Amino acid sequence: MYANLTVMKFFIDTANLAQITEANDLGILDGVTTNPSLMAKEGIAGEAAVLKHYIDICNIVDGDVSAEVISTDYEGMIAEGEKLAALHQNIVVKIPMIKDGIKAIKYFSSKGIRTNCTLIFSSGQAILAAKAGATYISPFVGRLDDISYDGMQLIAEISQIFTVQGYQTQILAASIRNPIHIIKSAQYGAHVITSPLSAILALLNHPLTDKGLAQFLADHKKANS
Ligand code: G3P
Repeated sequence: MYANLTVMKFFIDTANLAQITEANDLGILDGVTTNPSLMAKEGIAGEAAVLKHYIDICNIVDGDVSAEVISTDYEGMIAEGEKLAALHQNIVVKIPMIKDGIKAIKYFSSKGIRTNCTLIFSSGQAILAAKAGATYISPFVGRLDDISYDGMQLIAEISQIFTVQGYQTQILAASIRNPIHIIKSAQYGAHVITSPLSAILALLNHPLTDKGLAQFLADHKKANS
């Protein structure tokens, strides 16, 4: 019933170079997503600084790096997106789910420039972006949960639709807030999750693991003292 499947990829959703490096050093990182809010959070401002920061990220991670346009008109998105795509082969141009954004995704698709359609909150939006040729669509699960809609159900629904229809667009579950979002994304057939480092690291935790390890080490120490 559900999608695709290749093994679900892990992206980190931050512009913080230290956190990107930490996740990359774990050996499980497949890419990075950023947005204007995340760039601002790191104090990255001004076009030159923003472009340099994307290159810095590309130099840390061997994987796709989403760089978001600020323009909301077609011509502006094309000009910005082409500049971003020229920065590095791993840059994916992130485009908002608006009317001109769909036109821009179609244009970039025809030019072989990869896109990530962001701010997806419904299956209808996902279908439209896939039809336009988006490489990724980013449904925001946490922000749906915030307003009492089940974000994970949206991932399940899009996954089913894309499987039935055979869309090649990848479902990139975004606005991940906790490890359950990551687990459910895998269960429901997301191709990618993008997550804060905290939610990725939370996957490590189980009290019985801590208790079991403490016991193993204690028994080893007793036997060898
Ligand atoms: O990158 C877009 C998305 O992941 C944002 O997440 O936590 O601001 O809703 P959040």
